[in-house]
Amino acid sequence: MANIRLKNIYKSFDGLEVLHNLDLKVVDGEFVVLVGPSGCGKSTTLRLIAGLEEVTSGEIQINDRAVNDLEPRYRNIAMVFQNYALYPHKNVRENIVFGLQRAGASRELIAERLGKASKILGLEELLDRRPSQLSGGQRQRVAMGRAIVRDADVFLFDEPLSNLDAKLRYQMRSEIIRIHREYRTTSIYVTHDQTEAMTLGERVVVMRDGIIEQQGNPMEIYLKPANIFVATFIGSPSMNILDARLFPGWVEVGEQRLPLKRKVDQGHILIPEHGRDIKFGIRPDFFLDARFSKSRVDLARIENVRIDLVESLGFDREFSIHAGGQAMKARLDLRTMAGEGETIDLCVDMDMTHFFDPDTGRNLFV
Ligand SMILES: Nc1ncnc2c1ncn2[C@@H]1O[C@H](COP(=O)(O)OP(=O)(O)OP(=O)(O)O)[C@@H](O)[C@H]1O
Ligand SMILES: [Mg+2]
Repeated sequence: MANIRLKNIYKSFDGLEVLHNLDLKVVDGEFVVLVGPSGCGKSTTLRLIAGLEEVTSGEIQINDRAVNDLEPRYRNIAMVFQNYALYPHKNVRENIVFGLQRAGASRELIAERLGKASKILGLEELLDRRPSQLSGGQRQRVAMGRAIVRDADVFLFDEPLSNLDAKLRYQMRSEIIRIHREYRTTSIYVTHDQTEAMTLGERVVVMRDGIIEQQGNPMEIYLKPANIFVATFIGSPSMNILDARLFPGWVEVGEQRLPLKRKVDQGHILIPEHGRDIKFGIRPDFFLDARFSKSRVDLARIENVRIDLVESLGFDREFSIHAGGQAMKARLDLRTMAGEGETIDLCVDMDMTHFFDPDTGRNLFV
């Protein structure tokens, strides 16, 4: 078991800085997901922890001890990659126990660890097969097995599921959660898939361009995004960001005035009587069809919303709409019968909306 600490980490490649003063704590037994767009520095962060890259400056600690100068093999970290890196000529059993054998583990210990891991991973029937005789999901499980039997202090996962189809990815996600509950090994999991981050992470760390934009549990990140980047990166379809003006008591979007319940004017930002330009954020999921929300007097109303496109998602439908010249998306259930070219009235709970600074993107009320 282990806790991990990254302290003021900078990393440059050929003079180009890709991680800027990264600070991260992972406590013993935690499952932390690093998520962010391609190139933001997720894999680099993992490779620094594993010791496969050297930091340019800063300290990496495992169990409160600096490990900057410790070789990878002494860090007791197991890494699972996107390409499983299995030995093609070894069977499943041999692939799983190879590391243990090389470390000189006893036959009894190897048998015990292999037995437990193959049971948990559902590999018992497949131990004699070669990797080429396995499906993608099964190969991924072998790669997990290899990490598990080593009894490492830390698991590092670098997009381990991105080669799998949607259904298998979903299944493997549940398995990874189950395995973590069983072993409670401190884990850092990298993905650029925000759905994966939200379902797997006990804590989600959102990165962009080599910095941490926000960290918290998935609900905090979803409901209280620190800025426009996090707000639009997490959640699908993306949060609508509209040009608006904030007044003490209401927000003006186009020609519509949406009353505010909360006392924003008592907050810590200045809202002049003549209004302040802001970016107004509403998640597509938080719109309601006004026809089915009549009893909800607490909701704000957006009228004469024009429907440009309707896409069916099964129970829900995704509406591309516009109001006051601004395009947005709304997700409504099957009861909403209105179709393309028609107009509807929508309701929104203003407590679920966000106000962002148009210059910095910062959420004004988080
Ligand atoms: N060995 C290297 N030499 C030079 N530049 C590198 C090297 N490794 C990574 N980089 C650069 O560092 C930045 C971060 O790369 P990294 O692989 O950590 O991104 P990532 O977040 O894992 O992206 P992805 O989601 O595409 O895997 C990128 O701009 C990348 O080009
Ligand atoms: Mg990567």
